[in-house]
Amino acid sequence: MGIEHRDFATLILPDRKDPVQIPVIEDTMGGRAIDIHALRKETGYITYDPGFVNTGSCDSSICYVNGEEGILRYRGYDIEDLVENCDFVEVAYLLIKGELPDAKERKRYADLLNKESLLHYDMQSFFRGYPFDAHPMAVLAAMSASLSAFYPEMDDIDPELSVDFAVTRLVSKIRTITAFQYRHMKGEDFVNPSYKLSYCENFLNMMFKSPVFEYQINPLHVKALNQLLILHADHEQNCSTTAVRLIASSGANLYASISAGLAALWGFKHGGANQAVIEMLEEAYENQWSVDDIIAKAKDKNSTFRLMGFGHRVYKTFDPRAKIAKKLCKEVLSEGGEHDPLLDIALELEERATQDPYFIERGLYPNVDFYTGLTFRRMGIPTNMFTAMFAIGRLPGWIAHWLEWKKDPFGKIGRPRQVYVGPTQRKVPPLNER
Ligand code: CMC
Repeated sequence: MGIEHRDFATLILPDRKDPVQIPVIEDTMGGRAIDIHALRKETGYITYDPGFVNTGSCDSSICYVNGEEGILRYRGYDIEDLVENCDFVEVAYLLIKGELPDAKERKRYADLLNKESLLHYDMQSFFRGYPFDAHPMAVLAAMSASLSAFYPEMDDIDPELSVDFAVTRLVSKIRTITAFQYRHMKGEDFVNPSYKLSYCENFLNMMFKSPVFEYQINPLHVKALNQLLILHADHEQNCSTTAVRLIASSGANLYASISAGLAALWGFKHGGANQAVIEMLEEAYENQWSVDDIIAKAKDKNSTFRLMGFGHRVYKTFDPRAKIAKKLCKEVLSEGGEHDPLLDIALELEERATQDPYFIERGLYPNVDFYTGLTFRRMGIPTNMFTAMFAIGRLPGWIAHWLEWKKDPFGKIGRPRQVYVGPTQRKVPPLNER
């Protein structure tokens, strides 16, 4: 498993006289784990942990999250440092290749991204098969799987270069597909990427360039997009990344694995939350709900309503990404002076919820999705595309985990056990007796 066993825990089982010694492993930040992978073989017992609340599924050197102290690092670098000093392409490189690029590598990678940014002509025709109001995540997940039909698998002749091609192709084309889907939703012609523009400039240009008015790319929106994509770029073993790793473990190709990640991200408890936050704020504004009303609904155990953009499985304090997203949101929304009443509701909700015992006792604080949607909205991105924006950001993380899994010497197919609670053995009765 690539990790040394340093210590042992002792387990006393009800049907065994002798205690069982279970290896304990330690991670590089001092976190400890009980290695139970041989437990069933040795004792007949499995562990039970629905929702993987307390299960480490792999060892990984990509991302570090400390949920108690609100720390997030990619490859050892604080998220605050990366957002201030890097652009998205550099962070994507860092996640995928393990180190930040130097100037020469940075240029080589950006050139590769440009070269790989066009979409196969036949794939462009796919968009016409979808209704105009198809959810962008449905299109993205299908298109990602389709990429495997159009572009070759990685080869073993020059594995490093082959990986670079496959990876830059995916990172570049998913951005192009997302922008094309937007043009399709609007019933407008596609705008191809340009080698003269950076990764984020290109996205905005493909989205908003128009033949009927002069479109100027807003530098503040380029900065905001870079920062937002960096904030989303990885978050260790979250639901979608776990999906990607699980699919990879069966031997499926990169595109198919990413397609599974996209499907997992879509859900409102995960990446779909950014869309749900804005829908909640809009509903509150249109129906003139007070902040008290919203908080009361979120606390009501007879209601399924939750305060969207609040709470996290790992963070039991302020999500560090939410702090950065909030600052950025205020900066972007203050440009041009146009007031957004949804920001007022969001700020008041945060203030009230973070002082309310219900939220304090459960460790519920704003997460990454609470403020990002307001910024995307101001940039002109429609609400149903927010999760696709999250996906563009998360792509380097998914790819890094896919590659890490491929190199894992343990390399076993992901296959959890279960606690069976169905009927014991039965005999099939004849049809006339059922
Ligand atoms: N509003 C009201 N109550 C909440 C909320 C919320 N947003 N989140 C959790 N709770 C309550 C929940 O009802 C439960 O209460 P009790 O102990 O009385 O039964 C307690 O807090 C623990 O919640 P949980 O659902 O068991 O916690 P979890 O770790 O399984 O779920 C979560 C984490 C993110 C799915 C959940 O907090 C949630 O649904 N939040 C709203 C959706 C959201 O913002 N998702 C984005 C997550 S961050 C980005 C990403 O991962 O994509």
